[in-house]
Amino acid sequence: MLDLHPAPADMARLVIEGLNRTPKQLPAWFLYDNEGSRLFDAICEQPEYGLTRTETALLKRHAPAIATALGEGVLVEFGAGSARKVSPLLEALAPPAYVALDISAEHLQQACRNLQQRHPTIPVLGICCDYSLLEQLPELPLLAGQRRLGFYPGSSLGNFDHDEAVTLLAQFARLLGSNGLLLIGIDQPRSVAALEAAYNDRAGHSAAFARNLLVRLNRELAGSFDPGSFRYEAHWQARDSRIAMALVSARDQQVSLAGTSWQFTAGEALITEYSHKYSPEAFTALAAAAGWHSLERWSADDGSFSLHLLQPATVGAAPGRLSI
Ligand code: AVI
Repeated sequence: MLDLHPAPADMARLVIEGLNRTPKQLPAWFLYDNEGSRLFDAICEQPEYGLTRTETALLKRHAPAIATALGEGVLVEFGAGSARKVSPLLEALAPPAYVALDISAEHLQQACRNLQQRHPTIPVLGICCDYSLLEQLPELPLLAGQRRLGFYPGSSLGNFDHDEAVTLLAQFARLLGSNGLLLIGIDQPRSVAALEAAYNDRAGHSAAFARNLLVRLNRELAGSFDPGSFRYEAHWQARDSRIAMALVSARDQQVSLAGTSWQFTAGEALITEYSHKYSPEAFTALAAAAGWHSLERWSADDGSFSLHLLQPATVGAAPGRLSI
């Protein structure tokens, strides 16, 4: 496994930038320390959070067709987490190698070990990094001369705002190269009640996941947050087609971190994450803004989720046509 995790100084800078914003907001990838990754896995199993089950079923059902459409190449998964979704693809595709990128080192290492046992003939490599900042994949013999097939499941793109999402998709295009393809899972808007329940499960895992962020800031960046004095809320914001997840201060309080202090008023929200939802049309337009062209789509029967297969827009351009 390669460890390219951001240094503590970079993490502190990003957190300070976020706490200086209005409203205050923390980088979402900070949620995924070892405990956060464990809590996220628990969220994925909650009855209210159907996203993981729906996407897994879609992948199982369409793996042969997806493998045919992807063709041959190294499979590169962005934000692999526990890498629980990739097995049907590995079976159908039998790629020359599988590369998993994730921010949570221990979690990634365990996931790679499990996958390597399950798929002993496919070389498995983990890279611990913030894939949104990674400009190039490391030069590895494993990747040399191979076509790169990107896999970005779980609708993780939704955790970036619109401009960041375009930047990230453009970055994937760079990382995957001009003959690369990208298979991406996208969660779609649906009933407000169902969406809000998915992000505020009755068992309390969503709340614990958000509060763990404060525990991490205290531990790693000498923060003074009192996690018990923040309540968790998740609301649908129709204008932006997103769920906003926040820790709301229960009282006026002062919090310090890395030598700087911030004032929270009672009722003030600290945004921990947004989760944007895209209709197929909205997502296709977003992908086009980043230079991707939609090749195929596999959708859940209830219209809640789609897997989109994208290729660089220039590849499909008709001869003589300008491709910008
Ligand atoms: C990883 N990501 C796609 C999840 C989501 O649905 O936005 C993160 C999450 N946070 C709380 N519940 C799920």
